[in-house]
Amino acid sequence: MSTWPVVSLSQLSDGYISPVARSKAPLFCSVISIYITIPIIGLFFTGVPGSMVVTWTTFNKTESKVEYGLLGGRLFDMSAKGDAALFVDSGEEMRKMYIHRVTLTDLKPTATYVYHCGSEEGWSDMFSFTALNDSTSFSPRFAVYGDMGNENPQSLARLQKETQLGMYDVILHVGDFAYDMHEDNARVGDEFMRQIQSIAAYVPYMTCPGNHESTYNFSNYRNRFSMPGQTESLWYSWNLGSAHIISLSTEVYFYLEFGQELLFKQYEWLKKDLEEANKPENRAVRPWIITMGHRPMYCSDDDQDDCTKFDSYVRLGLNDTKPPAPGLEDLFYHYGVDVELWAHEHTYERLWPVYGDKVYNGSKEQPYVNPKAPVHIITGSAGCREKTDRFNPNPKEWSAFRSTDYGYTRMQVVNATHLYLEQVSDDQYGKVIDSIWVVKEKHGFSAWF
Ligand SMILES: *[C@@H]1O[C@H](CO)[C@@H](O)[C@H](O)[C@H]1NC(C)=O
Ligand SMILES: *[C@@H]1O[C@H](CO)[C@@H](O)[C@H](O)[C@H]1NC(C)=O
Ligand SMILES: *[C@@H]1O[C@H](CO)[C@@H](O)[C@H](O)[C@H]1NC(C)=O
Ligand SMILES: *[C@@H]1O[C@H](CO)[C@@H](O)[C@H](O)[C@H]1NC(C)=O
Ligand SMILES: *[C@@H]1O[C@H](CO)[C@@H](O)[C@H](O)[C@H]1NC(C)=O
Ligand SMILES: *[C@@H]1O[C@H](CO)[C@@H](O)[C@H](O)[C@H]1NC(C)=O
Ligand SMILES: [Fe+2]
Repeated sequence: MSTWPVVSLSQLSDGYISPVARSKAPLFCSVISIYITIPIIGLFFTGVPGSMVVTWTTFNKTESKVEYGLLGGRLFDMSAKGDAALFVDSGEEMRKMYIHRVTLTDLKPTATYVYHCGSEEGWSDMFSFTALNDSTSFSPRFAVYGDMGNENPQSLARLQKETQLGMYDVILHVGDFAYDMHEDNARVGDEFMRQIQSIAAYVPYMTCPGNHESTYNFSNYRNRFSMPGQTESLWYSWNLGSAHIISLSTEVYFYLEFGQELLFKQYEWLKKDLEEANKPENRAVRPWIITMGHRPMYCSDDDQDDCTKFDSYVRLGLNDTKPPAPGLEDLFYHYGVDVELWAHEHTYERLWPVYGDKVYNGSKEQPYVNPKAPVHIITGSAGCREKTDRFNPNPKEWSAFRSTDYGYTRMQVVNATHLYLEQVSDDQYGKVIDSIWVVKEKHGFSAWF
């Protein structure tokens, strides 16, 4: 049975629903036909407590403004300005668009704000978001999935509704968007951003790149998203509640033509970031270290993907580069990463605690209570035109639970010792088909022994 906490929408009932409905028609006209600005909006957490980035796209150069106010207070009594970056798609039409980014600062933790974005030349619909609670004892709730496309995004409707019901504080999209954003001269990317607007305009939408973003050196991905740090959203980390969350690119192991130096740069950054997160004073307040990257180290699918090989590139690195490129398994193990979230395989698979191809259960009865190695979850079945994958009939001993249903994962970092994960099947109308508690009295490398 699911223990997922549901927040009711009643907090939004004091007059802010109807103005949206009333103003929608005229706004739509002016936005589309006069100024040809088509907002495609997303919220991204900057990683700095009390701030949020609002991002949208227009096809004309306009100012970048967000007008906002506290829910229940005066509408739009605050405003913030930002910048628009020109993005020229590399398709044959060389389509131009402006990606606007406005950072809202000094937000009151847990307060709900109503906002719209645009400029005097045209405004978006009205949306709302809740500023994240900045307490380390906050228990954030995440929806986690990868591989959601423009066609056949089967879980999308359920995710839209659950987000609007207030069931998530943050979304983690673990790579592979739209299938593919660059197609039809990047119109598929525009369409996909509109599809996720009904999620991403309400809660922060945090991402990492997947193989479907690789065309033109990941340019649609790098330009359209706005993650923390200075790496064009390729790798970064941030904190929420008692968790330190690291997002990385597994694609640096596969697209060496875009720069082998990226692989080494990311590795060095990961090492430094993990070092910092493991300083006793940091790990004491953010004991959970959670990583997200697109291609898994392990999986038991029957395609020939990297993870089906026991010596996967992501896990062990590359031997044919100069110098050889280190993999991530040893690094993550050494720094006591607790949970590793992956996608790419269009299935759901939960692993017993695993390191070096061997299972390290906490105990036979309670494998996830004080596990002796990281816990891996593969969740890449949100829905896309490539449908779902199939499993190999004889998985290795680390494979604990598998499902080929479309669906997504929910994760709650409850407190310093308890983290909850459950898998929702969209094929089975939202049924929770798997759940675990990861319980750790100790975190870090020494927790393995
Ligand atoms: C807006 O952009 C479109 C397409 O790039 C262009 O044709 C149009 O002239 C621009 N309109 C204005 C008002 O600048
Ligand atoms: C943030 O979450 C903590 C832990 O649940 C809670 O005690 C605190 O009141 C919350 N902060 C606000 C401003 O609501
Ligand atoms: C690909 O993009 C990355 C990130 O911007 C950049 O560092 C790299 O030099 C680019 N590679 C090529 C071949 O343009
Ligand atoms: C790299 O070479 C070592 C030693 O030959 C081997 O053990 C390892 O499996 C190889 N790794 C990969 C990813 O091929
Ligand atoms: C790990 O724990 C699970 C659940 O009790 C059990 O089925 C499995 O055999 C254990 N694996 C090892 C290697 O102990
Ligand atoms: C952490 O959460 C778990 C599960 O809700 C609860 O049983 C436990 O008492 C909590 N620990 C603390 C220190 O509050
Ligand atoms: Fe993929």
